[in-house]
Amino acid sequence: MKFLKSALLLLSFCGIIPAATIAAEDISQNDPALHLIHALGCKGCHSIHGEGGSLAPDLTQIGSRLTAGQIQIHLIAPAETRTRGFMPSYSSLSKDELQLISNYLYNLR
Ligand code: HEC
Repeated sequence: MKFLKSALLLLSFCGIIPAATIAAEDISQNDPALHLIHALGCKGCHSIHGEGGSLAPDLTQIGSRLTAGQIQIHLIAPAETRTRGFMPSYSSLSKDELQLISNYLYNLR
């Protein structure tokens, strides 16, 4: 992984690939919330910043419609808040994990 990153950096210095590509990868590895979102497969159905599935609503602007608390409630009991489609419940996550994801999504807007 370290080698791959050095190689990417080198290519970017040479102007072969844009530095932004590397920055995006770094954010996903360093941000525990984004890491969780990837690991839990949210992007299999949802898009965030133009990346992910189209089965479910795009989550990039979710913070302008729901509060972090409402997002958290939706993660625990999706079927109770909405009925437009199936979303699995993430009620088995720890309180910290739920808070991490909700705050992250809320602050995207
Ligand atoms: C199997 C597909 C699927 C997966 C996986 C999934 N969702 Fe969803 N999600 C949906 C669907 C479909 C809806 C719309 C439900 C509705 O409105 O009835 C939704 C709705 C939402 C909403 C509310 C959106 C709105 O516009 O009100 C949030 C927030 C959300 N999901 C977050 C997540 C997060 C975070 C994860 C990962 C932990 C996740 N979802 C995983 C399918 C999925």
